[in-house]
Amino acid sequence: MVEFKTIIEPFKIKVIEPIRITTEEERKQYLKEANYNLFSLKSDQVIIDFLTDSGTSAMSDNQWAGLMLGDESYAGSKSWDRMRESIHSLTGYPYIFPTHQGRAAERIVYGKLGGPGKVFISNTHFDTTRANIEVTGAEAIDIPIAEAKERNVLHPFKGNMNIEKLETLVAQYGKEKIGAVILTVTNNSSGGQPVSMENAIQISNICRDHELLFILDCCRIAENAYFIKHREEGFENTSYFDIARKMFALADGCIMSAKKDAIVNMGGFFALKDKDFADKCRETLIITEGYITYGGLSGRDMETIATGLQEVFDPDYLHYRISSTGYLGKKLHEMGVPVMLPIGGHAVYVDAKELYSHIPPESYPGQALACELYIKGGIRSCEIGSVMSGHEDVDGKFICAPMELVRLAIPRRVYTQSHIEYVIEVFEKILEDKEKIKGYKIIEAPHFLRHFTAKFQQLV
Ligand code: F0G
Repeated sequence: MVEFKTIIEPFKIKVIEPIRITTEEERKQYLKEANYNLFSLKSDQVIIDFLTDSGTSAMSDNQWAGLMLGDESYAGSKSWDRMRESIHSLTGYPYIFPTHQGRAAERIVYGKLGGPGKVFISNTHFDTTRANIEVTGAEAIDIPIAEAKERNVLHPFKGNMNIEKLETLVAQYGKEKIGAVILTVTNNSSGGQPVSMENAIQISNICRDHELLFILDCCRIAENAYFIKHREEGFENTSYFDIARKMFALADGCIMSAKKDAIVNMGGFFALKDKDFADKCRETLIITEGYITYGGLSGRDMETIATGLQEVFDPDYLHYRISSTGYLGKKLHEMGVPVMLPIGGHAVYVDAKELYSHIPPESYPGQALACELYIKGGIRSCEIGSVMSGHEDVDGKFICAPMELVRLAIPRRVYTQSHIEYVIEVFEKILEDKEKIKGYKIIEAPHFLRHFTAKFQQLV
């Protein structure tokens, strides 16, 4: 087979969504009106939206066709049968529950397992996962491997959990106190880095030996499977689907935000092996999300999830997906933009602390970069640093996040290579005046998930 250098988008465009091209002057005004919080911008004020890869993907013709097949029956919907079968064939888990998105599943599952005195251990809890745990009074402990915090260190599975630390924590807290061990694949809050099968096997063994519940946060499991096939010995000849299946077999349950690797705009689910625990969760599902054959979803949503979960494992799609994220990351790296290496699956993470080394963490260098990307090029990105997870300790001392990253999350099947080339050009402008950029301060913020609604002021 002839190998070409250019990896094309393995799809044609049938429907388009216009992008409004704004001027820098307009964008400065929009940002001011948004109190320098990019979540407060209107979508038509944005040229390239890299805020998130969640729920922003383009569905296929087959998924759109499925909308007409959606069975909207309150109970026993055919579309639920399709969604359940699609999830069952992938996970092998017997008890499957639909929810309107990932965090609804988190609230139900961790609401049951949490409570004061409990701890949860993860390679890195995503922010909603942490919030759903902490809101019960439990503690969420992150134990990524040491390499995860080193931007430049090349490690094939930088998303792995630190096994030694896991053993120490298991010895320290024991079965009674540990609510669950959660493996996030890929590790979103730590650079979108993959987790190896070997790491999952080790975690699975420890959990089995100590009778701990092992939950996969699997919203990017297909992307993770791509890395395993291409980086981990012994999986060269295993399909992406079978790699994912093998990982599911190691855990006791999973939570999925279908807005990522099910390539849909809304939806989620959780799935479990244990009947007793499933029975408890079912009750809460009915009280808060909806009947068990729809959760918070319409029949047409369930159709699209069933199809998306199959499409995502297509080798041509996954190759394009991971290569195109890699293309942006590699170009930025070559230009001298400090990016998290190696490049992850769904996003490129820029180290704002290194780029704007004159801005201290308490003045939020990540927020400064996110605002600059918007002003200079209309690019919306997401700060994953001290705005998201910095806080004050009991003495009022500022505790910064371990890293000050800005995430350029790439929606699935939405942007073409020329959009990516444009983003690269905007970064050339970012590099030109990087010494002149000022930090920010927070003037208003709620206690939980403050990055969504905080208001900022630019420092003078
Ligand atoms: N777990 C992970 C690893 C996630 O990345 C997300 C969402 C969730 C759980 C929650 O799912 O949004 O459907 O309720 N991540 C989005 C993001 C919001 O931008 O990374 P949800």
